[in-house]
Amino acid sequence: MTTMAEEGRLLGFVRAMTCLVQVVGADEAQLLAGAAPLMRALVAQDDWLPEAMAQPHPQHYQQHLLYGDPLDRFSLVSFVWGPGQQTPVHDHTVWGIVAMLRGRECSQRFGRDADGRIAAQGEEHALAPGELEILSPAQGDVHQVRNALPDRTSISIHLYGGNIGRIARHVFVPGTGETKPFVSRYSNALVPNLWAGASA
Ligand code: FE2
Repeated sequence: MTTMAEEGRLLGFVRAMTCLVQVVGADEAQLLAGAAPLMRALVAQDDWLPEAMAQPHPQHYQQHLLYGDPLDRFSLVSFVWGPGQQTPVHDHTVWGIVAMLRGRECSQRFGRDADGRIAAQGEEHALAPGELEILSPAQGDVHQVRNALPDRTSISIHLYGGNIGRIARHVFVPGTGETKPFVSRYSNALVPNLWAGASA
């Protein structure tokens, strides 16, 4: 069996992830258990992300689609954070794994209080390169994410159990019970060449 490095890290990941969804189907626990080591291996080396997929935008964070499974069983996205950039409070509606590649980001969980208002739950959690955050709708997947670095770009790689840029989900207004429909879409018009980093 070839390694991720021999195949090109991105191609190796996509191959392994495609095999995993074929074998375990839609079982979330098995998908998370199988995908977590693949994500850990993907971000263990910061030498494979195409430069175009690592570009920040001066006004807002970028979501570059790296690969979308044609059957919408998973998608892989690079999140590129400029200094001070953050998401709204949002959910995902599908399982996800966030793996930190470069810099540092912070995630704050949210939930509903006794009056139905959206409120922060627990402490903000910082992710360093190589670390993962698991998201499961069954366990509460509402959070807000921000670049923890005030003066540098941070990049995390996100794996989702669906085509996340096309999924109808929600943003939440903290301190109220209000939700708004949300489809995140993608920043890039072109996807990376998976074979660019592979040996012949
Ligand atoms: Fe998120």
